Formats: sequence, C-alpha cells, structure tokens
Amino acid sequence: MAGTTQEALYAEIALDLSWSEEALPQVQRTKHVHSLHPYLGKFIPQIVEVFLQRYFRPGQRLYDPFVGSGTTLVEANAFGASAVGCDISAFNCLLAQVKTRHYSLGSLEMALRAALEQARQTAEVVTTEDASSWLRSWYAPQALRELLAYECVTAESLDDAGWDVARIILSRSARSARRTTHFDLDFPRKPVKKSYWCYKHRRTCSPVQEAAKFLRRYTDDTVRRIREFASLRTDSAADVLHADSRHVDLPYEISGIITSPPYPGLIDYHEQHRYAYELLNLPDLRDLEIGPADWGVSRRALDSYIDGIAATFRNAARFMESDSPVVIVVNDSRDLYPAILEQAGLALDERLKRHVNRRTGRRAGEFFEDVLVCRTK
Ligand SMILES: C[S@@+](CC[C@H](N)C(=O)[O-])C[C@H]1O[C@@H](n2cnc3c(N)ncnc32)[C@H](O)[C@@H]1O
Repeated sequence: MAGTTQEALYAEIALDLSWSEEALPQVQRTKHVHSLHPYLGKFIPQIVEVFLQRYFRPGQRLYDPFVGSGTTLVEANAFGASAVGCDISAFNCLLAQVKTRHYSLGSLEMALRAALEQARQTAEVVTTEDASSWLRSWYAPQALRELLAYECVTAESLDDAGWDVARIILSRSARSARRTTHFDLDFPRKPVKKSYWCYKHRRTCSPVQEAAKFLRRYTDDTVRRIREFASLRTDSAADVLHADSRHVDLPYEISGIITSPPYPGLIDYHEQHRYAYELLNLPDLRDLEIGPADWGVSRRALDSYIDGIAATFRNAARFMESDSPVVIVVNDSRDLYPAILEQAGLALDERLKRHVNRRTGRRAGEFFEDVLVCRTK
C-alpha cells in the first residue's frame, strides 16, 4: 500500500517545475539581488519566471500580497511587468524595496565605500551604553561598536536610497556577527560566549568578536549583485506597501497574483530578523502576522489562518477583473486550501505538486510544494 501511495505521488509530480541540482544549480536559484540577504521561506525565482511566462504579458501589473524578500517583484521587473507587493514585516519591505529600486550605480558605490571607511575610523569612540540589552548580549563589544558606528555614519551621510542599501548591508553583517555557532545561524536560541566544538568545521571555533570584516565583504557583494541586476532590469515600476494584506488598498488595478503565503505555525517572519529590528528601530507588527509560529497548529490557529488568507485574496479581488490568474505556491500538507479558495471566491484551475530540491545533507527527508493555479470568479 505504501508503495502504491508513493507511486501515485511521483506520478502527480509536475516534472517541469521539479528541477534537479544539475538542471538548476544553487548559483542560479540565488542569482543577483535574490541573495542580497538571507531569508527563510522564500520561493525560487524560476517558479515565478515560469508562471509569468504562462499567465502574464509584459506591461501588465501584478500583485504579491505576501511579498517577503521580493522575489515576485524582482522577476516581474525583469520580465517587463509592473508589480506591487505588500508585507506586514518592515524588514521584508525594506529588502524588497532595495532589490527593486533603480540606482545611480557609480555614486551608490562611492558613497557606500566612503561610509565604510568613515565608520572604520569612528568605531573606537562609539559607546554601546545606550544599545538595548538584546544587542549587548548578542554582540561582542567590538562588533557592536562597529555596527553602531556604521549605522550612525550611513544615516548621516547617505541619501534615502543609499541608506536603505546600507541598512541591508548592516543587517546582513549583524546576522553574521552574532555570538552564535557557525552551524546555528538560522535559529540561535541564546548567545554563545565561549569556544565550542563546531560540527560544521570539525574543529573548535570561537564566537565572532568583530563585524568590520562582514561590513566590507557584504558591501562588495551587494554592489556586485545590484550591478548584475541593473543589466537585466527594465523600467517597470515596483511598489512596496508595508501593511496588512487583509485590508490594504492597492494603488491601482492589477492583472493577477503570484504569491507564496505564510504557512501556519512554521516561521516567525519578524523574529528571524530580530537583529535588524533591534539595530534599525523598525516598527514591529508581529501581532498581525497570519499563521505565526508561536500560535502552533491547534484547530483555533488553523481556523484563524484560513480566515486570514481567505480575507487577503478577497481583499485583492477588489482590484482585479473576474477570470484573473492567481498563482499560489504553498506546501499545503494540511489540505487547508480547498476551504480557503472557497471562502476567497477563487476557482481552482489546476493543482500541481513539485519536488523541492534542497541541497543534500542540509535537511533530511523529501519536500514537496503545491502550486495552485486559480481564477477570480
Ligand atoms: C512565505 S513568505 C513570502 C516569501 C516570498 N515569496 C519570497 O520569495 O521572499 C510569507 C510572507 O507573508 C508575510 N505576512 C504574514 N502575515 C501577513 C499579513 N497579515 N499581511 C502581509 N504580509 C504578511 C510574512 O511577513 C512573510 O514575509
């Protein structure tokens, strides 16, 4: 029986969406601005590319109600379509904006490099006394001084667009400079202040003491990635709204949606970037996240999730004509989406299953994702 179920599952897999590592190596899945900053829970750009080609035309306007790190917006722009994205997490909105903005590349690079040098010179005189207790416990004093100096210098010396890029470099450096082990960068629970046996490097390692080397490394990488995307991008607009997608008003009519919603009880979208919220003083709206991890998967949590996602699509329908495409990428292992589509007024055209290639050795077990291709009624 188990064999039959497994065979049925494999027969269901949409092969054209289930790329192997050879067919779609990691370097392409993380191309140009898509990897400006680590982010748990994003979909790969190639999924968006496929559905843009299938259901949209250049010149149209798309919407992603759960824009996250901005994958849909970046790919829509490269395709020649305008796009608007909404997210409840201020950090995710900042990241999506930085990825899609048009820059004057020469001046951006010069300003970032000058700020890096100025921050290096002032780090020794910066005081950490006013920093939050969270920052003081998660960073060695030298690392915290370097991060705070960079924050202060970039806030004073850069224009708005440059400062947003600098804040992404700062956040990525802060993530790497936390006092944690090399093998637990995703979900470290408490600061590690002493040397430890490192499973990743198979030797004794010590927690990081400084942040300057990360600021330099990520400045180079960020400039390189933004330059690479600049040669591919179009002039199509990309707008980011920091709001609750259940109620947000979109600035214009849209032709359809490509999105990957949160899934219940899985990821804390604010907490995963806590260092950014602490350092950048971003507004924290975690109470409005749909399906937050700390609610778990009780019946009450699942019902609230169903209502929240359905409300989001109902709200978006106000800005679409009937028969508009709505592509939803989600691992619906709890089969919640039939009820959601019903409540949202969406008709299912096709439910595809794809095998997700997660580099061998990092996580155990096979992983599948559903792609629900729907139409507004
Ligand atoms: C699976 S992630 C989207 C990832 C995105 N497709 C990408 O590639 O980066 C789901 C997103 O939904 C956002 N979210 C959760 N509740 C929300 C709400 N009420 N309104 C808007 N966004 C919300 C989370 O902050 C998170 O960024």
